[in-house]
Amino acid sequence: MRHAAITGYGMAVPQKVLSNADLERMVDTTDEWIVSRTGIRERRVVGTGDTTTSLAVAAARNALTVAGLTADDIDLIVVATCTPDQFVVSEACLVQAQLGGTAAAFDVGAACSGFVYALSVASLYIQQGLHQRVLVIGVDTLTRFIDYTDRATCVLFGDGAGAVVLEASDQERGLLSIVLGADGTGSQHLFAPGWGALVPESAMLVSETRPYLQMNGQEVFRFAVRVMGDAAAEAVEKAGLALEDIAMFVPHQANKRIIDAAARRLNLPPEKVWQNLDRYGNTSAASVPIALAEAAHDGRFEEGDNLVLVAFGAGLAWAAGVVRWGVAGVPRLNQ
Ligand code: ACO
Repeated sequence: MRHAAITGYGMAVPQKVLSNADLERMVDTTDEWIVSRTGIRERRVVGTGDTTTSLAVAAARNALTVAGLTADDIDLIVVATCTPDQFVVSEACLVQAQLGGTAAAFDVGAACSGFVYALSVASLYIQQGLHQRVLVIGVDTLTRFIDYTDRATCVLFGDGAGAVVLEASDQERGLLSIVLGADGTGSQHLFAPGWGALVPESAMLVSETRPYLQMNGQEVFRFAVRVMGDAAAEAVEKAGLALEDIAMFVPHQANKRIIDAAARRLNLPPEKVWQNLDRYGNTSAASVPIALAEAAHDGRFEEGDNLVLVAFGAGLAWAAGVVRWGVAGVPRLNQ
């Protein structure tokens, strides 16, 4: 049986910090409101020179370094994003052009759930024997599509990228189970109107069409609390494991209250729940791989440990998977 072990991880965020104090000067909000309702204290936002591609490439290079590989070793690049630099030309091709190499390349679109969706797709390619080494990137620059006069959304989001390298292995590592779900009837709760082919001239008519992200926060909150815990529990069961077997819960970083509710549902103590949204806010598809890379870098789990990755977001869509961690010492299958 071929498995898709995670052998490298990396992340990248813009240098520019937008703090709650900065936002207090921009809209009618307070640090106290933002921290108590969301847990977010600051976020990174794109500045001059930052693009979706530059962040994705930086995270990918870090992941390749950890894996001890170069772009020439990679045979497939899958990028999860809802903010590609261009609509025609996949983000994955833009990344490949800068990284080098000749990997096949395509994008996956599932908003904040995108990275976990992409991880499942990439793992299948390896498990089926179609590819040996795959780079999976979650990247978003949602702050370019945020209305900074709308206090209900502008305090929530940040930009960034996270990446993993998957390699074929004969050891039981990588994704052990996956739960994917979507409810398109909830699409009106979180969307960006006029940001697509339906209104092709929208980009030129920003002031008239307002293509900014719009959200019914309370609906998304209720959906997220229900789905995060349920999907994570189902993924653990599908993997043939018990909740006690989970070393670390790596959730989408949207709201501390949502994460805490899911952790309570799963009976996980705080030390088993990775949270970094206080520093980055909601980075959409980058959120889970950034959290994973930070926790790994921090030595929060070891080879062979079981992790739960879970995300939810626009769609409405959700995804949860159990990953058995393996970086150092995972014997690789020969080409
Ligand atoms: N500062 C101060 N007050 C605010 C702010 C703000 N930034 N934003 C809203 N308020 C006010 C509202 O106007 C409202 O005032 P009112 O009572 O006078 O009408 C009050 O605060 C309460 O608003 P609620 O929307 O009820 O606040 P809630 O406790 O639900 O928190 C929040 C709002 C943080 C948005 C929450 O609903 C949430 O986190 N929802 C989920 C969001 C999410 O996870 N999105 C995922 C996106 S993923 C993707 O795919 C992009």
